[in-house]
Amino acid sequence: MSKHLAPKRVTVPDIVARKGREPLVCLTAYTTPMAALLDPYVDLLLVGDSVGMVLHGLPTPVGVTLEMMILHGQAVMRGASHALVAVDLPFGSFEESPEVAFRSAARVLRKTGAQAVKIETSEAMAATVAYLVQRGVPVLGHVGLRPQSVNLDGGFKAKGRSPGERERVMAEARATEEAGAFAIVVEGVAEDLAADVTRAVRVPTIGIGASAACDGQILVTDDLLGMAEQTPRFVRRYAALAPQIAEAARAYANDVRARSFPGQAEVYALRPRG
Ligand code: KIV
Repeated sequence: MSKHLAPKRVTVPDIVARKGREPLVCLTAYTTPMAALLDPYVDLLLVGDSVGMVLHGLPTPVGVTLEMMILHGQAVMRGASHALVAVDLPFGSFEESPEVAFRSAARVLRKTGAQAVKIETSEAMAATVAYLVQRGVPVLGHVGLRPQSVNLDGGFKAKGRSPGERERVMAEARATEEAGAFAIVVEGVAEDLAADVTRAVRVPTIGIGASAACDGQILVTDDLLGMAEQTPRFVRRYAALAPQIAEAARAYANDVRARSFPGQAEVYALRPRG
C-alpha cells in the first residue's frame, strides 16, 4: 500500500478535539491478534494493567510490573495501525518522584512505540503529570475508582458516595486536567458526578462504570466478550465466548478420545518420492 493511502493513526490532538462531540470508543487490548481485531473500530486501545487480573490470574493490579506492560504494549502495537495506543504505568513505577515516572514512561514509549501512558491520578500526582507532559509524554489520567489503590480502599469500590468523596473526585479531575493530561478515564462514579466532572474539565472524559454522561467509553474487552464468569453491573456483554470455548474444548476432547480426530481430511496425503 502506498504510504499516502495508509490509514492515519489517531493522535493525541485528535482525541482532545473530540471533547463534547462524537463519543470516543475505547477498549483494552493486551495481545497482537486482539489488537488487530479491535483496531478498525476504536479510537483508543488501552494496554491496561488489568492485564494482570485478566490474563495472568493476579488478584489485583498491584503485582503488575513495568516489564509486563512493555511486553504487552509491544504486542498490541504490532496489531494496531489506526487507534491511539496508551499503556498503563503500573503500581510502583511512577509514584516515587516525577523523575522516576519520567524514566518509566520514557522506557514504555521508547520500547513499545505507543503514543501515551495512563496514570492513576490524584492531587498528589498532579506535579508528576505536569513533569511528564512538559517533557513530551502524553498522559491519560484516571480518577474515581483507582484500581491500584485497592489495598487502601479495601476492595474495588465505587467513588463519590459522600459529599467529601464527590469533592475529592472533582479535585482529582481538575488537578489532572490542569497538569496537562489530554483525557481522563473516570471510573466507578454515579451519573451526576460523571456529568459534573465532564462539564468541569476541558479535556475528554472516558467513562467506565460512569454512565453515558462522559465524552467516551472504555470497557475491558474480555468483559464485553463474556470471558469472565462474573462482571460488574456496568458491563454489557456483546458475546458469550467462555461457554463457547469450553464447549469447543469438550468436543475436541471427545473426538480425540474416540479417535475421530484427526480424520482423513485432516492428515497430510504425501506420496512417497521416486
Ligand atoms: O487497567 C485497565 O484496563 C483500566 C481500564 C479499565 C480503564 O484501567
